Amino acid sequence: MACGLNVFSIITLIVANLSPLAGGAPQVPCYFIFGDSLADDGNNNPLLSLAKVNFPPYGIDFPDGPTGRFTNGRTTVDIIAELLGFTDRILPFVNATGTNILRGVNYASGGGGIRDETGTNVGGRFSMNGQLANHQVTLSRIATLRRSTVDEAKEYVGKCIYSVGIGSNDYINNYLIPQIYPTSTLFTPDQYAAALITQYEQQLRTLYTAGARKVALFDVGPIGCTPAEIATFGTNGSACVDFINAYVTLFNTRLKTLVDQLNCDLTDGKFIYINTTHINSGDPSAAGITILNAPCCSVSATTGLCIPNSIPCTNRSIYAFWDAFHPTEIVSQLVAPRAYSAATPMDTYPIDIRCLAQLQLY
Ligand SMILES: *[C@@H]1O[C@H](CO)[C@@H](O)[C@H](O)[C@H]1NC(C)=O
Ligand SMILES: *[C@@H]1O[C@H](CO)[C@@H](O)[C@H](O)[C@H]1NC(C)=O
Ligand SMILES: *[C@@H]1O[C@H](CO)[C@@H](O)[C@H](O)[C@H]1NC(C)=O
Ligand SMILES: *[C@@H]1O[C@H](CO)[C@@H](O)[C@H](O)[C@H]1NC(C)=O
Repeated sequence: MACGLNVFSIITLIVANLSPLAGGAPQVPCYFIFGDSLADDGNNNPLLSLAKVNFPPYGIDFPDGPTGRFTNGRTTVDIIAELLGFTDRILPFVNATGTNILRGVNYASGGGGIRDETGTNVGGRFSMNGQLANHQVTLSRIATLRRSTVDEAKEYVGKCIYSVGIGSNDYINNYLIPQIYPTSTLFTPDQYAAALITQYEQQLRTLYTAGARKVALFDVGPIGCTPAEIATFGTNGSACVDFINAYVTLFNTRLKTLVDQLNCDLTDGKFIYINTTHINSGDPSAAGITILNAPCCSVSATTGLCIPNSIPCTNRSIYAFWDAFHPTEIVSQLVAPRAYSAATPMDTYPIDIRCLAQLQLY
């Protein structure tokens, strides 16, 4: 799909296409990643946490082996970074040093949520507020590296892409564990979705105040279809735990409305919505993914994560799930290209990441 371009951006594009760097340099100077275990690339490694996976068989298909990614290979954001033209990985905040941070930082943390208490049951993790605090540290470091003020650093990061994928744990590791968390007695599912969105909106405004102008928001996927939730709640004969997916839909519908609101209020910024639920809704067997209800690795009954050093399935390309919660790389290989360049109008709203990157905001 073509991006909606004005005359000025067309001129810029022509110039960009003529430049000798075309095809070489990344399309944006940096990519900042916020989120949970679906995007984490090692931030939990130094923490005392159950949500930590820097051991085999995690990373069995990743060139560097187990890094703290919650999958066999690359995550969706790894592939999006590649599509944006980055040749080196975006490093986790806990490990990113020196000039590396000028091309972005990954703050995502397994177990983290919109609410600070979310994920307490797994131990250490960075909540969205914690990730935003870490981003302030990065801004100061960028200012130092560029010998500039923090305001000038904010201008620099305004040209970058941001992605945020958070909210799953506010259900999995909060609302759906009434033994530990009181939220399900305090809020109806609809009130809870509304409360989450109110808090998320504040966090996204904080991100904007920190200079972010091009922000892609991932929906919460159909977590009622994960082997872990199916094992816990049963399905009454359905393919998934339908009531969980219904809760998540309440959140996602509001998130898409929030995108409209933010674009209306913050006119020099652009927020987009990525509907991974839609992208994943096709027939996965068309892509060779035939095993949808069982994890590829042997999982721990308590954590749903792969048992350390266990031998996983041999053909990771036919399993949708790597462990009891997280998709295999093959699923990310389907999602990332369509988040980047939408294959149907439902994939992204109102534009895709490729167009977001090209957008001339000022
Ligand atoms: C962090 O950096 C150390 C030293 O460079 C490296 O051994 C380790 O694998 C890195 N961890 C991650 C998650 O990148
Ligand atoms: C199964 O059906 C019963 C009765 O309709 C309902 O109370 C329960 O919540 C359902 N369970 C799931 C997992 O959907
Ligand atoms: C996302 O896609 C699903 C599946 O096509 C659709 O039912 C849902 O309405 C979409 N979500 C939003 C918020 O547009
Ligand atoms: C894995 O499964 C896919 C899809 O059925 C198939 O194309 C591929 O050859 C298999 N790979 C191996 C190593 O068996």
